[in-house]
Amino acid sequence: MSKIDVVLGLQWGDEGKGKIVDVLAGRYPAVARFQGGPNAGHSLHFAGRDFVARSLPSGIFREGCTNIIGNGVVLDPIEFRDECGQAALLGAKPSGSVLISKKTTIIAPTHRLLDAAREAAAGKGKIGSTLRGIGPAYADKTARRALRAGDILSPDFEARWKALKAQHVAEIRSLGFECDPDKEDADFLSAVEFLRGFRLVDSENFVNGWLDSKPMLAEGAQGTLLDIDHGSYPFVTSSNTTIGGVCTGLGVPPHRIGRVFGIFKAYCTRVGSGPFPTELFDATGDEIRRVGHEFGAVTGRPRRTGWLDLVALRYAVMVDGVTDLVMMKADCLDGFDTIKICTSYKINGVETSDFPSETDAPIEPVYTEFPGWKQDLCGVTDPSVLPKAFNDYVAFIESATGVPVSIVSLGPDRDTIIER
Ligand code: IMO
Ligand code: MG
Repeated sequence: MSKIDVVLGLQWGDEGKGKIVDVLAGRYPAVARFQGGPNAGHSLHFAGRDFVARSLPSGIFREGCTNIIGNGVVLDPIEFRDECGQAALLGAKPSGSVLISKKTTIIAPTHRLLDAAREAAAGKGKIGSTLRGIGPAYADKTARRALRAGDILSPDFEARWKALKAQHVAEIRSLGFECDPDKEDADFLSAVEFLRGFRLVDSENFVNGWLDSKPMLAEGAQGTLLDIDHGSYPFVTSSNTTIGGVCTGLGVPPHRIGRVFGIFKAYCTRVGSGPFPTELFDATGDEIRRVGHEFGAVTGRPRRTGWLDLVALRYAVMVDGVTDLVMMKADCLDGFDTIKICTSYKINGVETSDFPSETDAPIEPVYTEFPGWKQDLCGVTDPSVLPKAFNDYVAFIESATGVPVSIVSLGPDRDTIIER
């Protein structure tokens, strides 16, 4: 019996999951997505090329790797077709290597329009959604009226889609917005036809059968602090980004889960609204954004930046049962004289190491300062050249979380990796 190992983001997304899945995918014969949709932007850099995986699992460029889109995912046929086209230009063969669960929820063009209308209607209270229709599609799933990938094979698919579309249009108009609901109809139907060219499977049977003899890697999207249950609700995405999402989003029982790789950046970023205790509004925050190229891979929005938050990281390690930490982008801190880590919060004058569930808690971060290593570490793959200040920084994180930092990544390329 083999295991399904898991890669999860431990912060607010954009931790570098794509790179790590791409690196690890060379060791697993299959990669599965279990939640999220084209709100994800997993950047891959290999052989001088760049690709941002949105709905495609990041094993797509590994020869012989089977890629599974699980039942917990929301899939936009138009975006998916376009993404497959771009991947094919770089040598991938999506139609031969991607399997889609019959239970995967379909995102229709009016889900995107509804996402935009709900956000506009929310005014200042908006979530800062990626406007990919993610929230409305998951809401339809929970309301038990969604279309699923298996439905595209049914003769009444078009009629059911039109009925759902009419409900979306009515809601958009009730919110006071006009839209052109038919604009993408022909494109949607042609993208659905493209989807019919893929193997649609009962993914729970497929995945459990696979694990009887071969291992698999599950690729999380977004991050733990954007989880619909455990994140800073309502400023979250609409799926379970945490470990439980693997079980529900693929149909695997907990005992089949093996290692849990928790990915974090050596600092924090967040896009969209919601609390961010260590956020920096000064030149240091600007410098982290500049050096780390912290602009959205999907939306191009500048990301909010701040110091590493160990209170939040410990919370994520606890919720996800992380067995291995993976630290990304510490090389972006090379130039700083002093590097800070938040080790506790002060809330109304009381110090705590618990991550609060209230999103309006007046959090004052308490920092531990470290001397910067002031050395160019970008591209380093030899652990023996790492400076003491850097190793002390990593050791501090390991002792505070109780989990080893098994992988350190000091540069975007597939080959820039240190295993410890
Ligand atoms: P990856 O997989 C960072 C954020 C949005 C918004 C909130 C809800 O690349 O790490 P949604 O469109 O999901 O309804 O938006 O979640 N968000 C992400 N932030 N990385 C992502 O994905 C994200 N996916 C959604 O900015 O605040
Ligand atoms: Mg992203």
